[in-house]
Amino acid sequence: MSERLTKSAARNIFFGGTIFFFVIFVALVAQSVNYAIVNGAVPSESAAHGKRIWERHACFDCHTLFGEGARFAPELGQVWLRYGGADDPDGARDRLKDWIKAQPSRVEGRHQMPHFDLSDKDLDDLVDFLRYTSGINTQNWPPKAKG
Ligand code: HEC
Repeated sequence: MSERLTKSAARNIFFGGTIFFFVIFVALVAQSVNYAIVNGAVPSESAAHGKRIWERHACFDCHTLFGEGARFAPELGQVWLRYGGADDPDGARDRLKDWIKAQPSRVEGRHQMPHFDLSDKDLDDLVDFLRYTSGINTQNWPPKAKG
């Protein structure tokens, strides 16, 4: 038997390998989509609007959300829980809105957050968005709550 790889054997390995890994790829995509459907929640209308405010004001220029964004300021994916949202949703909402309204703090030595001129409704929607992100199962990503 010759040691050389014949043309047709090479072709079979190429097509066989391509199909094999394509099937694995499709299975992994299906698994990810299924995972997202099972572990995600449908955002409310206000949370969806809050996300648009998040994008319009480019909060990610300084903050990360699930590790995505700039690292100038704290990670905000779980900020709702850090502000006590699990036990005291009304208090957490007020604390978050007050924090955003009170910026910049002008405290020496701290990175500063600019003032955003947001209506009360916009602030509520932003908080709804941050509340929504805190409910997404990210399998503990990012590993440090504050990024
Ligand atoms: C120019 C940078 C910058 C931008 C843009 C920015 N922030 Fe911040 N933000 C900061 C900094 C810096 C801090 C931390 C300040 C401190 O601890 O004194 C902060 C803190 C926060 C906190 C409190 C986090 C905590 O763990 O206590 C919240 C909530 C927040 N920002 C929301 C927002 C939202 C919502 C937007 C968009 C509308 C936004 N930020 C845009 C810089 C920014």
